[in-house]
Amino acid sequence: MKLITLKDIKENIGKEVKLKGWVRNYRKSSSKLRFVIFRDAFADIQAVAFKPEMGEENFEKVKQISLETSVEIIGIPKEHQKREGEFEFQLKDLNIIGRSDEYPIGKKDHGTDFLLSNRHLWMRSRKQNAALKIRHTVYYAICEYLNKNDFYRFDSPILTPNASEGTTTLFEVPYFDSGSAYLSQSGQLYLEAGIMTLGRVYDFGPVFRAEKSKTRKHLTEFWMMDAEAAFVEHEENMNIQEELIRYVVCTVIDRNTKELKILDRDINQLKKADAPFKRMTHRQVIDMLKNKGVKIGYSDDFGAPEEEMITEGSDVPIFVERWPKEIKSFYMKRDKENPELVLGADLIAPEGFGEIIGGSQREDDHDILLGRIKSEGYDVKDYQWFLDLRKYGSVPHSGFGIGFERLIQWMSGIRYIREVIPFPRMINRINP
Ligand code: 4AD
Ligand code: MG
Repeated sequence: MKLITLKDIKENIGKEVKLKGWVRNYRKSSSKLRFVIFRDAFADIQAVAFKPEMGEENFEKVKQISLETSVEIIGIPKEHQKREGEFEFQLKDLNIIGRSDEYPIGKKDHGTDFLLSNRHLWMRSRKQNAALKIRHTVYYAICEYLNKNDFYRFDSPILTPNASEGTTTLFEVPYFDSGSAYLSQSGQLYLEAGIMTLGRVYDFGPVFRAEKSKTRKHLTEFWMMDAEAAFVEHEENMNIQEELIRYVVCTVIDRNTKELKILDRDINQLKKADAPFKRMTHRQVIDMLKNKGVKIGYSDDFGAPEEEMITEGSDVPIFVERWPKEIKSFYMKRDKENPELVLGADLIAPEGFGEIIGGSQREDDHDILLGRIKSEGYDVKDYQWFLDLRKYGSVPHSGFGIGFERLIQWMSGIRYIREVIPFPRMINRINP
């Protein structure tokens, strides 16, 4: 008898097969009839246990199961009698692999805190399973796009001697004789070295921010894909991001229709994002917000409510570009047309999902960059290697960093970032 998974159920209709997985649910219909919702990694199926067909002894074993018991089931897959495209399983035998007594997550509504404390179990639920599958797709879609477009994977370090995104969110760790090291906030600075040998590079890994913010969009450990390219300037940098994000949108719709449905994601709305993105300068956005009655100044950054207003009524993401230099990072290139501005662009997702990418053309002039490092109050010797890149064959270059979980939130329509990463790390949670 063949061992199969629910991925291959269609090809096995009418044949006796074996499946291994877990009991999602079960229900007694009469003394002779029980239903078992069996699940494996791929899907759920209703298994029908009918005593006259199974025999007394095998039917007794079905009575021993409980929520999340691991089992192997033997029987015959069939087309569902009433629901087209669905399947049923006629049970002949069932063997318990691992018991599951008093599974803590039941049918009643549990609070978020309880679910998060049981994250190791909660991830078995249908929605959580769907979110993790979408995460997988988004990961590979990003890599596919970059690999096809001549970006080399380049692994930046996680233990670093200095800050890339400001010193207020650094995690400090003791480090032998040097005293302290810091967990990376973004691999960007290292990628800038990488492009001088590989042309176009990307990294993809965990980054860390000691964010004091308790919002639905902030983690202290999240994943970032940083990309960097030599000889690419501001406009082209945005073009690459747009192409990449549209590729991700199409790929998720193509590969995860089922998961998007499980999550009640409005797929038609998501589809609309596969169209030219809009671009606005920071100043234009401020004017627009002022018109909507928001009290905000020309050198202010945006909070979550403003971000939501930026894309209100837009089906596509919007690049906000050319920012006042005081509110952006030291490495961003000055705008030739207005030295008070930098050539940075944030990509704001529609439907209220906020900033998903931060990027910019980089300052490639040694002396200007040195001035910026000094005025930030950073120790120049920590950045000597970074300044070297502007001393030996400097070139115009640009890059960007995708907040991986933010992008998954938008794709899956999940409002809380904690549900799109296997084990979320937040200001008040590091368990399990
Ligand atoms: O905008 P950020 O800070 O940009 C950088 O770190 C650049 N060095 C990237 C680069 O140019 N290579 O971070 C990039 C993205 C943000 O747009 C946001 O989507 C996400 O990372 N992000 C967070 N996601 C979850 N939790 C947090 N605490 C986040 N902080 C930023
Ligand atoms: Mg940012």
